[in-house]
Amino acid sequence: MFGRRRIEYKTDEQLRTMVQAGLVTSRALDAAVAAARPGATTADLDAAFREVLAAHEATSNFLGYFGYPATVCVSVNDEVVHGIPGERVLEEGDILSIDGGAIVHGFNGDSARTVILGRPSEADQLLSDVTRDAMWHGIAAMATGTRVGDIGAAIEDRVRSRVGDRLGILEDYVGHGIGSQMHMAPDVLNYRTGDRSPALRPGMCLAIEPMLVTGAIETKVLEDDWTVVTTDGGRACQWEHSVARHKGGIWVLTAEDGGASELEPLGVTPVPVPGA
Ligand code: MF3
Ligand code: CO
Repeated sequence: MFGRRRIEYKTDEQLRTMVQAGLVTSRALDAAVAAARPGATTADLDAAFREVLAAHEATSNFLGYFGYPATVCVSVNDEVVHGIPGERVLEEGDILSIDGGAIVHGFNGDSARTVILGRPSEADQLLSDVTRDAMWHGIAAMATGTRVGDIGAAIEDRVRSRVGDRLGILEDYVGHGIGSQMHMAPDVLNYRTGDRSPALRPGMCLAIEPMLVTGAIETKVLEDDWTVVTTDGGRACQWEHSVARHKGGIWVLTAEDGGASELEPLGVTPVPVPGA
Protein backbone atom coordinates (compact mmCIF):
# COMPACT_ATOMS: atom_id res chain seq x y z
CA MET A 1 0.00 0.00 0.00
CA PHE A 2 2.80 2.44 0.78
CA GLY A 3 5.05 4.03 -1.84
CA ARG A 4 8.53 3.20 -0.69
CA ARG A 5 9.77 -0.36 -0.43
CA ARG A 6 13.22 0.38 0.99
CA ILE A 7 13.46 0.88 4.72
CA GLU A 8 14.90 4.25 5.75
CA TYR A 9 17.47 3.92 8.54
CA LYS A 10 17.89 7.24 10.29
CA THR A 11 21.12 8.78 11.51
CA ASP A 12 21.19 9.99 15.12
CA GLU A 13 20.72 13.54 13.84
CA GLN A 14 17.64 12.51 11.87
CA LEU A 15 16.31 10.68 14.92
CA ARG A 16 16.62 13.89 16.93
CA THR A 17 14.43 15.61 14.34
CA MET A 18 11.98 12.70 14.60
CA VAL A 19 11.82 13.41 18.35
CA GLN A 20 10.79 17.00 17.60
CA ALA A 21 8.11 15.90 15.12
CA GLY A 22 6.86 13.36 17.65
CA LEU A 23 6.59 15.88 20.46
CA VAL A 24 4.67 18.39 18.34
CA THR A 25 2.33 15.56 17.30
CA SER A 26 1.80 14.59 20.94
CA ARG A 27 1.09 18.15 22.06
CA ALA A 28 -1.31 18.74 19.18
CA LEU A 29 -3.12 15.53 20.14
CA ASP A 30 -3.32 16.75 23.74
CA ALA A 31 -5.18 19.81 22.45
CA ALA A 32 -7.49 17.81 20.21
CA VAL A 33 -8.30 15.38 23.05
CA ALA A 34 -9.02 18.32 25.38
CA ALA A 35 -11.44 19.74 22.78
CA ALA A 36 -13.32 16.43 22.55
CA ARG A 37 -16.49 16.84 24.62
CA PRO A 38 -20.22 16.48 24.06
CA GLY A 39 -21.47 19.40 21.96
CA ALA A 40 -18.18 20.00 20.18
CA THR A 41 -17.98 19.30 16.47
CA THR A 42 -15.32 17.06 15.03
CA ALA A 43 -14.10 20.17 13.16
CA ASP A 44 -13.35 21.75 16.57
CA LEU A 45 -10.86 18.97 17.23
CA ASP A 46 -9.23 19.60 13.88
CA ALA A 47 -8.91 23.32 14.69
CA ALA A 48 -7.35 22.59 18.09
CA PHE A 49 -4.78 20.29 16.51
CA ARG A 50 -4.05 22.73 13.70
CA GLU A 51 -3.38 25.60 16.12
CA VAL A 52 -0.68 23.67 17.95
CA LEU A 53 1.03 22.77 14.68
CA ALA A 54 1.01 26.43 13.66
CA ALA A 55 2.41 27.53 17.05
CA HIS A 56 5.36 25.15 16.53
CA GLU A 57 5.85 26.09 12.88
CA ALA A 58 5.08 22.51 11.99
CA THR A 59 2.98 21.42 9.03
CA SER A 60 0.35 18.72 8.70
CA ASN A 61 1.24 15.50 6.93
CA PHE A 62 -2.44 14.53 6.66
CA LEU A 63 -3.65 17.71 4.94
CA GLY A 64 -3.52 17.14 1.18
CA TYR A 65 -2.32 13.54 1.54
CA PHE A 66 -3.91 11.95 -1.55
CA GLY A 67 -6.24 14.94 -1.33
CA TYR A 68 -7.22 14.41 2.33
CA PRO A 69 -9.02 17.63 3.39
CA ALA A 70 -8.11 18.00 7.11
CA THR A 71 -5.27 17.80 9.65
CA VAL A 72 -6.69 14.97 11.74
CA CYS A 73 -8.93 11.98 11.27
CA VAL A 74 -11.77 11.71 13.79
CA SER A 75 -13.45 8.32 13.61
CA VAL A 76 -16.59 7.94 15.71
CA ASN A 77 -18.31 4.73 16.91
CA ASP A 78 -18.54 2.37 13.90
CA GLU A 79 -16.00 4.47 12.00
CA VAL A 80 -12.67 2.70 12.14
CA VAL A 81 -10.20 5.17 10.61
CA HIS A 82 -9.97 8.16 8.26
CA GLY A 83 -13.14 9.91 9.46
CA ILE A 84 -13.15 13.46 8.07
CA PRO A 85 -13.76 16.21 10.65
CA GLY A 86 -16.78 18.39 9.96
CA GLU A 87 -20.08 19.55 11.44
CA ARG A 88 -20.83 16.29 13.26
CA VAL A 89 -21.67 17.09 16.88
CA LEU A 90 -20.10 14.75 19.42
CA GLU A 91 -22.38 13.15 22.00
CA GLU A 92 -22.06 11.54 25.37
CA GLY A 93 -21.23 7.87 24.89
CA ASP A 94 -19.34 8.36 21.64
CA ILE A 95 -16.09 6.47 21.24
CA LEU A 96 -13.75 8.27 18.89
CA SER A 97 -10.22 7.93 17.70
CA ILE A 98 -8.27 11.07 16.92
CA ASP A 99 -5.35 10.49 14.57
CA GLY A 100 -2.92 13.20 13.49
CA GLY A 101 0.63 14.00 12.62
CA ALA A 102 3.20 16.74 12.16
CA ILE A 103 6.12 17.43 9.87
CA VAL A 104 9.10 19.20 11.47
CA HIS A 105 12.19 19.93 9.34
CA GLY A 106 11.13 17.27 6.84
CA PHE A 107 10.43 14.45 9.31
CA ASN A 108 7.06 13.02 10.32
CA GLY A 109 5.22 12.13 13.50
CA ASP A 110 1.99 10.10 13.51
CA SER A 111 -0.10 9.14 16.53
CA ALA A 112 -3.68 8.34 17.51
CA ARG A 113 -5.64 8.12 20.74
CA THR A 114 -9.14 6.94 21.55
CA VAL A 115 -11.47 8.96 23.75
CA ILE A 116 -14.86 7.97 25.20
CA LEU A 117 -17.17 10.87 26.02
CA GLY A 118 -19.17 10.92 29.24
CA ARG A 119 -19.62 7.72 31.17
CA PRO A 120 -18.16 4.88 29.09
CA SER A 121 -20.03 1.63 28.67
CA GLU A 122 -18.12 -1.37 29.99
CA ALA A 123 -17.81 -2.72 26.47
CA ASP A 124 -16.32 0.51 25.05
CA GLN A 125 -13.93 0.85 27.97
CA LEU A 126 -12.72 -2.71 27.44
CA LEU A 127 -12.32 -2.11 23.70
CA SER A 128 -10.14 0.94 24.28
CA ASP A 129 -8.16 -0.55 27.18
CA VAL A 130 -7.34 -3.74 25.29
CA THR A 131 -6.34 -1.86 22.13
CA ARG A 132 -4.11 0.52 24.08
CA ASP A 133 -2.57 -2.24 26.15
CA ALA A 134 -1.94 -4.34 23.03
CA MET A 135 -0.24 -1.33 21.41
CA TRP A 136 2.13 -1.03 24.38
CA HIS A 137 2.93 -4.74 24.20
CA GLY A 138 3.68 -4.28 20.49
CA ILE A 139 5.93 -1.33 21.31
CA ALA A 140 7.73 -3.36 23.97
CA ALA A 141 8.34 -6.07 21.35
CA MET A 142 10.10 -3.47 19.20
CA ALA A 143 12.69 -3.33 22.01
CA THR A 144 12.88 -7.02 22.88
CA GLY A 145 12.21 -8.57 19.48
CA THR A 146 14.45 -9.25 16.50
CA ARG A 147 12.02 -8.87 13.59
CA VAL A 148 9.21 -6.47 12.69
CA GLY A 149 6.80 -9.41 12.80
CA ASP A 150 7.46 -9.80 16.53
CA ILE A 151 5.42 -6.61 17.04
CA GLY A 152 2.25 -7.98 15.46
CA ALA A 153 2.71 -11.30 17.23
CA ALA A 154 2.91 -9.49 20.59
CA ILE A 155 -0.19 -7.42 19.77
CA GLU A 156 -2.24 -10.45 18.79
CA ASP A 157 -1.04 -12.51 21.76
CA ARG A 158 -1.98 -9.74 24.17
CA VAL A 159 -5.45 -9.30 22.69
CA ARG A 160 -6.10 -13.05 22.75
CA SER A 161 -4.83 -13.51 26.28
CA ARG A 162 -7.08 -10.72 27.53
CA VAL A 163 -10.33 -11.30 25.63
CA GLY A 164 -9.95 -14.45 23.55
CA ASP A 165 -11.83 -13.99 20.27
CA ARG A 166 -14.30 -11.44 21.67
CA LEU A 167 -12.58 -8.51 19.90
CA GLY A 168 -11.45 -8.52 16.30
CA ILE A 169 -8.09 -7.24 15.06
CA LEU A 170 -8.40 -5.35 11.80
CA GLU A 171 -6.38 -6.67 8.90
CA ASP A 172 -7.34 -4.16 6.17
CA TYR A 173 -5.18 -1.41 7.73
CA VAL A 174 -1.75 -1.77 9.30
CA GLY A 175 1.11 0.21 10.81
CA HIS A 176 4.08 1.41 8.82
CA GLY A 177 7.59 2.76 8.69
CA ILE A 178 7.81 6.52 9.20
CA GLY A 179 10.48 9.15 8.61
CA SER A 180 10.99 11.52 5.69
CA GLN A 181 7.53 10.33 4.58
CA MET A 182 4.54 9.52 6.78
CA HIS A 183 4.01 6.11 5.19
CA MET A 184 7.10 4.10 4.38
CA ALA A 185 8.26 0.51 4.38
CA PRO A 186 7.89 -1.79 6.18
CA ASP A 187 4.25 -2.66 6.88
CA VAL A 188 3.70 -3.34 10.58
CA LEU A 189 0.92 -5.89 10.91
CA ASN A 190 -1.15 -6.12 14.07
CA TYR A 191 -1.29 -9.90 14.05
CA ARG A 192 0.93 -12.94 13.68
CA THR A 193 1.77 -14.37 10.25
CA GLY A 194 4.12 -17.07 9.09
CA ASP A 195 5.89 -14.62 6.76
CA ARG A 196 9.49 -13.63 7.30
CA SER A 197 9.72 -9.93 8.13
CA PRO A 198 12.62 -7.42 8.14
CA ALA A 199 15.06 -7.40 11.05
CA LEU A 200 14.57 -4.71 13.70
CA ARG A 201 17.64 -2.51 13.33
CA PRO A 202 18.95 0.77 14.74
CA GLY A 203 17.65 3.77 12.83
CA MET A 204 14.23 2.20 12.19
CA CYS A 205 11.14 4.22 13.05
CA LEU A 206 7.75 2.52 13.03
CA ALA A 207 4.18 3.66 13.55
CA ILE A 208 2.52 0.93 15.61
CA GLU A 209 -1.26 1.26 15.39
CA PRO A 210 -3.59 -1.59 16.31
CA MET A 211 -7.25 -1.19 15.36
CA LEU A 212 -9.77 -3.38 17.18
CA VAL A 213 -13.50 -3.90 16.66
CA THR A 214 -16.32 -5.42 18.68
CA GLY A 215 -17.72 -7.39 15.75
CA ALA A 216 -16.49 -8.72 12.43
CA ILE A 217 -13.29 -7.26 10.95
CA GLU A 218 -14.81 -6.52 7.54
CA THR A 219 -14.76 -2.82 6.60
CA LYS A 220 -15.99 -0.61 3.79
CA VAL A 221 -15.21 2.93 2.65
CA LEU A 222 -18.07 5.45 2.63
CA GLU A 223 -19.13 7.68 -0.29
CA ASP A 224 -16.74 10.42 0.87
CA ASP A 225 -13.94 8.08 -0.29
CA TRP A 226 -12.22 8.23 3.10
CA THR A 227 -14.30 7.18 6.09
CA VAL A 228 -13.77 3.51 6.86
CA VAL A 229 -16.61 1.85 8.78
CA THR A 230 -17.25 -1.67 10.01
CA THR A 231 -19.71 -3.42 7.69
CA ASP A 232 -21.68 -4.85 10.62
CA GLY A 233 -21.87 -1.58 12.59
CA GLY A 234 -19.56 -2.85 15.35
CA ARG A 235 -17.64 -0.26 17.30
CA ALA A 236 -14.00 0.46 16.57
CA CYS A 237 -10.95 1.79 18.34
CA GLN A 238 -7.41 2.76 17.46
CA TRP A 239 -4.26 3.71 19.36
CA GLU A 240 -1.00 4.65 17.64
CA HIS A 241 2.52 5.77 18.48
CA SER A 242 5.59 6.43 16.35
CA VAL A 243 8.61 4.65 17.85
CA ALA A 244 12.35 4.76 17.12
CA ARG A 245 14.81 1.94 17.60
CA HIS A 246 18.40 3.12 17.96
CA LYS A 247 21.70 1.66 19.13
CA GLY A 248 20.82 2.10 22.81
CA GLY A 249 17.21 0.89 22.77
CA ILE A 250 13.80 2.28 21.81
CA TRP A 251 12.17 5.66 22.36
CA VAL A 252 8.48 6.42 21.81
CA LEU A 253 8.69 9.58 19.74
CA THR A 254 5.06 10.64 20.22
CA ALA A 255 5.09 10.32 24.03
CA GLU A 256 6.49 13.08 26.26
CA ASP A 257 8.34 10.52 28.41
CA GLY A 258 9.41 8.26 25.56
CA GLY A 259 6.90 5.71 26.80
CA ALA A 260 8.62 5.16 30.18
CA SER A 261 5.47 5.11 32.33
CA GLU A 262 3.80 2.44 30.17
CA LEU A 263 6.86 0.40 29.21
CA GLU A 264 8.59 0.06 32.56
CA PRO A 265 5.82 -2.21 33.96
CA LEU A 266 6.45 -4.38 30.88
CA GLY A 267 10.16 -4.63 31.69
CA VAL A 268 11.36 -2.18 29.02
CA THR A 269 13.12 1.07 29.86
CA PRO A 270 13.10 3.53 26.97
CA VAL A 271 16.46 5.12 26.16
CA PRO A 272 16.64 8.67 24.83
CA VAL A 273 17.88 9.10 21.28
CA PRO A 274 21.63 9.93 21.40
CA GLY A 275 22.10 13.66 21.91
CA ALA A 276 18.38 14.39 22.32
N1 MF3 B 1 -2.42 8.39 10.24
C1 MF3 B 1 -3.03 7.51 9.30
C2 MF3 B 1 -2.20 6.29 9.50
O1 MF3 B 1 -2.01 6.05 10.59
C3 MF3 B 1 -2.98 8.05 7.95
C4 MF3 B 1 -4.00 9.02 7.65
S1 MF3 B 1 -3.87 9.44 6.03
C5 MF3 B 1 -4.91 10.70 5.80
O2 MF3 B 1 -1.49 5.71 8.83
F1 MF3 B 1 -4.85 11.00 4.58
F2 MF3 B 1 -6.09 10.34 6.19
F3 MF3 B 1 -4.52 11.69 6.50
CO1 CO C 1 -0.07 5.74 10.98
